[in-house]
Amino acid sequence: MSTEGVNTSRRRFLIAATSAVGGAGVVFTAIPFVASMQPSAKAQAAGAPVEVDISKLEPGQMMTVEWRGQPVWVVRRTPDNLADLKKIPADQLRDVNSEVISQQPPYAKNETRAIKPEYLVMVGICTHLGCSPTYTKIGEGGLGADWKGGFFCPCHGSRFDMAGRVYTGVPAPTNMVIPPHKYLSDSRVLVGVDPEGAKA
Ligand code: FES
Repeated sequence: MSTEGVNTSRRRFLIAATSAVGGAGVVFTAIPFVASMQPSAKAQAAGAPVEVDISKLEPGQMMTVEWRGQPVWVVRRTPDNLADLKKIPADQLRDVNSEVISQQPPYAKNETRAIKPEYLVMVGICTHLGCSPTYTKIGEGGLGADWKGGFFCPCHGSRFDMAGRVYTGVPAPTNMVIPPHKYLSDSRVLVGVDPEGAKA
C-alpha cells in the first residue's frame, strides 16, 4: 500500500495549519488536543470521535481539529455570512442544494449544510486533489468584489462558499465534505458520530 498520498495530504495539512497560525486573517487555529478529552493516538487513527470545545470561538473565527488524520474545521459564521449564502446565484454553484449524497449526512443537507446554521463543521480538504483550502473572508485574497467569503484552494484555484459549496468553473467536482457530528451541548461538538436517531 502506498502511503505517499496520505503523507502528502498530511504534509499539506501541516503546512496549511502552520501558515494559518502565521497569517493575520485566520485566527484561532488552535488545535485543542487536550489530553484528558482525547482518545489515544491509536484509537484516533482508527476513527474514534473527537470532542471539540467551541466555547471560545468568536463569530467569523475558524478552528481546526484532526479526525481520522484529516483536518476538520469548525467555522462560526456571522449573520452576514448566513445572509450572503442566499445571495449567491444558484447557477454559480455546482451543487447548490447538496444533492451529491456522499458529501454530507442527511441532517446537513440543507441551506447552510449544518445542524446549527451558525456553525459549519467541515473536512478541510479540497475535493479536487486533496489540498487544504484557505479560509478567505470578504475582501481577502484578491478574489474580487463579488466574493462572499468562503474557502479558496491555492493548488488549482477551486472556490467554495461559506457552506463549502463548490463554485462552477473550477476543478473541484463536488462540495466539501461535512463529517458526521453531533452537539453534546451548546459548546461541545463531537466529530465522527451521528446524532441519535439521525439517518446516516
Ligand atoms: S486540489 Fe484544490 S483545486 Fe486542485
